[in-house]
Amino acid sequence: MKSFVVEPATRPLSGQIDVPGDKSLGHRALLFSLLAKQSIRIRGLGGGADNGRTARAITQLGATVERDGDAVVVHGTGLRGMSAPAAAIDCGNSGTTIRMLCGLLAGQPFKSELFGDESLSKRPMRRVIDPLRAMGAVITGAGGGASADVVPPLTIGPIAERLRGTTHQLAIASAQVKTALVLAGLQAEGPTHITEPGPSRDHTERLLAAMGAPITASGREVTVDPDAWSAAGAALELPGGTIDVPGDPSSSAFLVAAALVAGAETVVCRGVCVNPTRTGFLDVLERMGATIAIEHQRAVGGEPVADLVIRGAAPSLRAVEIEGDVVVRAIDEVPILAAVAARAKGVTIVRDAEELRVKESDRIATTVAMLRAFGVEAEARPDGLVVAGAPDRPLTPGRVDSASDHRIAMAGSVLALAASGPSRIEDVGNVATSFPSFVSVLSSLGVTLREE
Ligand code: S3P
Repeated sequence: MKSFVVEPATRPLSGQIDVPGDKSLGHRALLFSLLAKQSIRIRGLGGGADNGRTARAITQLGATVERDGDAVVVHGTGLRGMSAPAAAIDCGNSGTTIRMLCGLLAGQPFKSELFGDESLSKRPMRRVIDPLRAMGAVITGAGGGASADVVPPLTIGPIAERLRGTTHQLAIASAQVKTALVLAGLQAEGPTHITEPGPSRDHTERLLAAMGAPITASGREVTVDPDAWSAAGAALELPGGTIDVPGDPSSSAFLVAAALVAGAETVVCRGVCVNPTRTGFLDVLERMGATIAIEHQRAVGGEPVADLVIRGAAPSLRAVEIEGDVVVRAIDEVPILAAVAARAKGVTIVRDAEELRVKESDRIATTVAMLRAFGVEAEARPDGLVVAGAPDRPLTPGRVDSASDHRIAMAGSVLALAASGPSRIEDVGNVATSFPSFVSVLSSLGVTLREE
């Protein structure tokens, strides 16, 4: 198993990084290109293994995916031209791949099978299967053991008739579930309405609307009304034919946090997606007392984009309470925010974050274990965690088991910068699912870390 050995920071970080493409948008760019009849050029794909799973999946469904220099060109099939996959689709570690595919394949006239790695095989699928069944989908999975949920492997379809447009009130704010229902709704008879309890990321709504899909969004409600579109042939079309994927805010969060923990001459994260459904971590860091300049705001591919700039010595940070909507807007950033909280004065409390229990690992348990590995006082709660910050003394060098979770591995690597000696972060192979260049990027900022 691969490990990182991270040395404490001895000088402020410095450098300019072009942040690799956003993973969430990469999945959508690939999958929605399958549904286009025209060829789509995707620039700025992040290159992580999760996006690679979606790329493989769409080729199994009949698309051709070609590299052309830095871009990827997808020759899709349209919604009605897909072919039955010859083999089961391997979604690897990627929850977004499997859940989006559930919605897409639920409306197709062939049978498909989806499976994943050990972590994905434990993740709950009822949240997506139950509302799809209400639309007429035929989906079965494995029993979920203790959680009594349904887990992969999943078998989907075939269905005898078209899906039925349905009104869904989601119990959980989840962009993966919302996207699955939108994709099913595009193939259904009659409109589908989806209302969710929190502001989950809205990349699907933005990109599908730009591709001419019959989708409208207002507040927390999304409507898909496909009848006229279906009668006209049901194919997506993107004016210009190019999707530019902006930098991943979730990856940038580790770099921003490293610059705050170690201090920075100037660290610039260029081209980061600052869609408000993704910037909860910036709001929390600002409340903690960090100054992060958001410069050169512009629009890329229908998404707001900016450069994030951190300057100056490690700031004095204060503890905060993190709860409510901001948790949804920072759902993937809680481990790294908890790591920063270990360097803030006072007790940080995270609430309303029970969703973290069912991510790539139980991130409440694995975040607390990661913090404790550095001697930080931290406690798990059913819906969150408590971190007692101790900014005035160096941390104990840690030995962290990342539990195969990329975000725990990266959060541990950042916190290691504040330790009194080298730390070891174990089981880091899955960093490649979202941020394969993590080691080289951090090294270029002046961090000493090596893979073993
Ligand atoms: C994602 C949605 C979120 C997030 C995940 C990516 C997406 O999951 O945690 O990393 O691309 O739609 P949920 O939909 O389960 O909240």
